Amino acid sequence: MRERMVIGNWKMNPPTIADAVELARSVADRIPAGVLVGVAPAAVALPAVSDALRDTNLDVYAQDVHWEERGAFTGQIAASMLRGLATGAIVGHSEVRRDQCDDDARVAKKLARTVTAGLRPILCVGESAAEHEAGNASVVIVRQIAADLAEAPRRGLQRLVVAYEPIWAIGTGNPATGEWATLEVRAIRAALKHAGLDAEAIPILYGGSVSARSVAEFAAADGIDGALVGGASLDPDEFAAIVRAFG
Ligand code: 13P
Repeated sequence: MRERMVIGNWKMNPPTIADAVELARSVADRIPAGVLVGVAPAAVALPAVSDALRDTNLDVYAQDVHWEERGAFTGQIAASMLRGLATGAIVGHSEVRRDQCDDDARVAKKLARTVTAGLRPILCVGESAAEHEAGNASVVIVRQIAADLAEAPRRGLQRLVVAYEPIWAIGTGNPATGEWATLEVRAIRAALKHAGLDAEAIPILYGGSVSARSVAEFAAADGIDGALVGGASLDPDEFAAIVRAFG
């Protein structure tokens, strides 16, 4: 049986580190047992949030890592710097791909660095609106999976998590349907299998405008094991409701 998992990606929120700590505590107070739950605060808030959550069952994830071990990379975070602060890292989020011009070659190196550093990776893939409208979603996703897995040692991918995040659904209030996400998640599992991984054991999350209102169809969908939640993860009551849907 696969793990069920809900991760809150806080992106560039909330406004201060003190607010991040308060949000983390409010979320921890509301989380039921039985589902793996994590939050991904901004890098600068990781020490304070991980400290605040030390004796709770909430995990902490980084939103990104650099692919190199160390060196002249101004503004970047090395995987080793996350030791003791995070159990894992989001890799390949479409907003990082967009804002830092990350292509699949870079994402592949980031994924490799994440797993060799002993962090649990949440690899994000998903098609753009144009690719979606052109009917190319599955082709794009399958290509991303193959390219993004190219560098990581297979042994390190035993704890891989994949998030299907169609770009057109992120932050739009317009989630995919459970039916659509099921089809794409099936394509992702086939690509994982093709890459030589035990696809049936790998949790796949859906992300893109998940809310307390929209979560039910994803929680009920065949093959979807959880959610990667953006905006709605900033409201502890709504986030807890999303977690309960996967409980
Ligand atoms: P929203 O839930 O705000 O659409 O964001 C989804 C996302 O990008 C999570 O990583």
